[in-house]
Amino acid sequence: MNLAVTGGTGFVGSYLTEYLVKRGHSVIVIDNLHTGRIENLNNIRTEIEFHKLDILEYEKLRKVIKNVDGIFHEAALTEVQESFTKQKEYYDVNVKGTENVFKLAKELGFKVIFASTSSVYGDTKKIPIKENFERKPISPYGDTKLQAEWLAEKYSKLGVNVISLRYFNIYGKGQSSAYAGVITKFMENILKSKPPIINGDGLQVRDFVYVTDVARANFLAMKSKVNYAFVNVGTGKAVSILQLADMVINSSGLKIRPLHLEALEGDIRASVADISLARKLLKWEPKTKLNEWLAKTIPKKQE
Ligand SMILES: NC(=O)c1ccc[n+]([C@@H]2O[C@H](COP(=O)([O-])OP(=O)(O)OC[C@H]3O[C@@H](n4cnc5c(N)ncnc54)[C@H](O)[C@@H]3O)[C@@H](O)[C@H]2O)c1
Repeated sequence: MNLAVTGGTGFVGSYLTEYLVKRGHSVIVIDNLHTGRIENLNNIRTEIEFHKLDILEYEKLRKVIKNVDGIFHEAALTEVQESFTKQKEYYDVNVKGTENVFKLAKELGFKVIFASTSSVYGDTKKIPIKENFERKPISPYGDTKLQAEWLAEKYSKLGVNVISLRYFNIYGKGQSSAYAGVITKFMENILKSKPPIINGDGLQVRDFVYVTDVARANFLAMKSKVNYAFVNVGTGKAVSILQLADMVINSSGLKIRPLHLEALEGDIRASVADISLARKLLKWEPKTKLNEWLAKTIPKKQE
């Protein structure tokens, strides 16, 4: 297939691009390199077509993707804390930029797999979270993704095939440090023999899903006959931040304890996916186990 990945030099986008190239698909990568890095595609640089391009540049985007069969829309501003201070930028990229992709899909007739987020649910009182739970984001970032989901609804009614995947917490090597998730931050500290830093009491729970599993969910969504859906992409397993800190410390062999700082604004208490719909619609199952991945990725320190 002829495929495009927006945000393809970013964390998820680069794994996804490599996943597609390895399966013989031709891939156009679109990214303005805001947080993405072209080095993330070093393994496959000669096998892809790369365009340094902002998704807000509609006409240029149109030219680049006019012959694709499908597009994976990963490009976004993705940092919850930053979204409180840069609301207009977040709205422009995550809402208007996404609408550009949907508009082009309508005009040119390709399928869209849209990277949504568990943040659209906000601070739910019940876990695991099902797709039909109320969407009530508590950060501007989550709010922009909810607005993008409304656009997915609108454009699907206009005939666009669009599957929105609501990613939970994704982990893997290569997240950019400034925007890194909690696992990357803990690992960065551990590699310097420093304690992981927990915001709040550490009893908040998350659902950590491995980035290659997310790439495979995207691919299955593109291939599936399903033309419109919102689907959770997580593991269904709750891990508290305290448990995560213990796992990271134990994998390193260091004798240290985590440090606690103040809770973060907009930090959700419990976020765990019900993944029955992904199993049913996409025949998808996460394969990588967090504790095994940490154990093989973190070098054991000799004290
Ligand atoms: N990583 C996670 O845990 C997670 C969880 C839920 C949802 N998501 C969503 O998955 C997608 C990928 O996230 P990620 O973790 O890889 O983030 P990332 O920051 O590594 O990737 C985003 C990419 O989009 C690019 N980009 C930003 N603005 C752009 C613009 N205007 N035009 C073109 N490119 C632009 C960036 O340069 C970057 O390469 C995002 O849509 C994000 O909201 C990620």
